[in-house]
Formats: sequence, structure tokens, C-alpha cells
Amino acid sequence: MQRTSLLLLAAAAFLSAAMVAVHAGPPPPVKLSPDFYSQTCPRAERIIAEVIQSKQMANPTTAAGVLRVFFHDCFVTGCDASVLIAPTHYAKSEKDADINHSLPGDAFDAVVRSKLALELECPGVVSCADVLALASRVLVTMTGGPRYPVPLGRKDSLSSSPTTPDVELPHSNFTIGRIIELFVAKGFTVQEMVALSGAHTLGFSHCQEFASRIYNYRDKGGNPAPFDPSMNPTYAKGLQAACQDYQKDPTIAAFNDIMTPGKFDNMYYVNLERGLGLLSTDEDLWSDVRTKPFVQRYAANNTDFFEDFAKAMEKLSMYGVKTGADGEIRRRCDTYNGGPTTSPLPTTQ
Ligand code: HEM
Ligand SMILES: *[C@@H]1O[C@H](CO)[C@@H](O)[C@H](O)[C@H]1NC(C)=O
Ligand SMILES: *[C@@H]1O[C@H](CO)[C@@H](O)[C@H](O)[C@H]1NC(C)=O
Ligand SMILES: *[C@@H]1O[C@H](CO)[C@@H](O)[C@H](O)[C@H]1NC(C)=O
Repeated sequence: MQRTSLLLLAAAAFLSAAMVAVHAGPPPPVKLSPDFYSQTCPRAERIIAEVIQSKQMANPTTAAGVLRVFFHDCFVTGCDASVLIAPTHYAKSEKDADINHSLPGDAFDAVVRSKLALELECPGVVSCADVLALASRVLVTMTGGPRYPVPLGRKDSLSSSPTTPDVELPHSNFTIGRIIELFVAKGFTVQEMVALSGAHTLGFSHCQEFASRIYNYRDKGGNPAPFDPSMNPTYAKGLQAACQDYQKDPTIAAFNDIMTPGKFDNMYYVNLERGLGLLSTDEDLWSDVRTKPFVQRYAANNTDFFEDFAKAMEKLSMYGVKTGADGEIRRRCDTYNGGPTTSPLPTTQ
């Protein structure tokens, strides 16, 4: 009995010594908070909102572009602006990944402009990762979607790999099982995956992303059909006509949400119920028993969709963020402060 308590006492002494040692070490990483810049750059959010809103008014494709770039940034090594690094002669970057093929220039331009305006007001203070997170929120809200909290204080990455995006991001030919695995591996639930997919209420997809559904279609048993039978026939024929020259002109694209393409709403889910999903990964959310209940819920109630999308976006915006010495505040969003030659990237890949 006595011995046991002695041991416990010894353990307690050891533990408190260990805690002292921890406290003596480097300070704990700074926590993200919505008012991170309230002292250092109080007008940061206002500045970003103004730049982004005028960009969106001039180029209405900006919203979808920024949202997709943000998703790609976060899913590949965390929300750290690694997606914004421009490839150079010396070092490739995420932009060189196969899956980049259509990350839209307007999205990068929107971030660059915001950053320029911020550097005039408070140089070296606001990270590019935070600019991208805030720009996404501005654009979701501006197109009619929910407003959600965006905690701030992300640092920008010190690297950007050209091969990681092709491993970390979902492809339009994945099965739902594989998409679920990808999201679950990053800590997202099936429901959060379905809610985040609602971002496809905006923007476009290029014909090559859904061509196998409308040309030379074969089902899983190898049997041919004029198009994927899960598609509404009129819709499928319309896409066949619209995309007929896509191999000559790979820029041809179709709206992800054919009914309300520029409006952030739950129409994406309503479309799935009617066979109007554009990518097979969209339409499969309706046919798979694991995801169908959430599609039904969001199609039936826009408020439910907005609430869940808002929570999932806030969570996405925190994924893998870097703080402290794990990153830097870039002066330019497309280059490391050390410049391209000193980046820790391999020169060939
Ligand atoms: C669930 C798995 C997902 C797959 C397989 C997927 C796949 C794709 C593909 C293939 C495109 C078309 C790219 C092109 O042809 O230019 C696209 C566009 C888009 N994606 Fe996703 N995506 C997924 C999830 C997400 C998420 C979670 C978000 C954001 C939260 C998102 C936002 C967007 C947006 C906004 C566009 C339109 C981009 C534009 O018009 O410029 N996607 N997605
Ligand atoms: C995507 O990669 C290709 C090939 O490396 C490159 O030519 C193109 O500029 C990249 N796109 C963007 C948006 O960086
Ligand atoms: C999906 O598409 C990619 C790129 O187009 C291709 O490399 C891959 O083999 C395809 N995967 C499946 C499962 O069809
Ligand atoms: C939609 O969902 C919200 C929030 O869950 C709920 O308050 C509202 O009553 C629902 N509306 C309908 C029409 O069911």
C-alpha cells in the first residue's frame, strides 16, 4: 500500500518535471482565431472583400475558380497556399500536376490582387493561405451561399510538390468508395464529403471529365449503351452535342449545375435526383446507399445544406494548417520569400 503511493508520488514528480521541461521549450504554436489580424491589419478582411467582389463582378467565373483552388490547396498538404507557387525553371510545383489542367487563371489573379492591396496597407502581415481562405468565404457568400467563420493565422508553405496533387485529390472517374476513403483518411465524414461536393453548384467541368459517360459508353459488364443510363436522356443528348468537338477544342466545358449555374444553392442535389449530375462522381452520390440519404436531405432542405456546408468548409479551412516555424508569410503568393532558387524542391521530377 505504502509502496504504491510512493510510486505514484514518484510518477507525479516525474510528470511535473516533464511538464516544466515542456514549458521551458519553444512556445506552443499560435492558435488560429477569426481576429488574428485585429491589431496588425485590422482592415484585412475589408480589403480582401473589396478586391474579390470587384473581381467577381468583372469575371463571374472567379467564384467557382477560387473555391476549387482552395479545395485543392487544402487537400494537398493542408491549407497553406502551396497551390499558388508558380513553377520555375529551377523547380516544378503543384501547378505542374496532371490534375491542374484547368485550375483557372482568374482564381490566381484574384488572390494576387488581394495580396497586392494588403501589402500596401500592412506589408508582410497577412498570409496567402489566409487570403485564399477569406476569398473563398467572400465568394460563397456573394453567390448566395452561407457565411461561415474563418479562423486566421495560417502560415504559407515552404514547398509545393508537383506529384502530390495527383495522389491526394479525387478524380472524376473514382468510385464513391474510393472518394469516401480519400475523405475519411483526412478526417472527413461521408456526410461532410457530400456537403462539400455541393460546391459543384457553381462552375464548369471540361468535356473530357465526363466524356466516357456520353461517348462509347460501356457499363460495368462491358455492354455498350448510347450514354450512361443514370443520366436524363435529354441532358445526355444535349451534352453529346455540346461536346462533339472537345478533342479538337479541349476548352469546351459544361455547367456543373445546369439549372442555376451561378447561384450557390442546393440545386446540385435536386439535379442528382433527376439524373442531371454532370460527373459520374456527382451522379453516383445519388445511386450509392452510403451517400443517397444526405443527397435527399440537402435536396429537400436548403437550410440543412447551408448549415452542413458551412461547418464542413470551416473544418476544411483548418485542415493541415501550418503555424510558427512550419511556414512563412510570403511577400508574393507565387514565390517563396527565399526565392525560387532556394526552395527546398527537387529540380527535376
Ligand atoms: C468529391 C470529389 C470531387 C471530385 C471528384 C471533383 C472533381 C472535379 C472536376 C473533375 C471538376 C472539373 C474540372 C475542370 O474540368 O475544369 C471540378 C470542378 C469544380 N470543383 Fe470539384 N471535385 C470534388 C470535390 C470538390 C470540393 C470538395 C470542392 C470545394 C469545396 C469542389 C469545387 C469545385 C468547383 C467550384 C469546381 C468548378 C471550377 C470552375 O468552374 O472553375 N470540388 N471538380
Ligand atoms: C498546368 O500544368 C501545365 C503543364 O505543366 C502548365 O502548362 C499550365 O500552365 C499549368 N496550369 C496552371 C494553371 O498553372
Ligand atoms: C482515371 O483517369 C486518370 C486520368 O485521366 C487515368 O490515369 C486513370 O487510369 C483512370 N482511372 C480509372 C480507375 O479509370
Ligand atoms: C429545414 O431544416 C431546418 C434546419 O434543420 C429546419 O429548421 C426547417 O424546419 C426545415 N424546413 C423544412 C421545410 O423542413
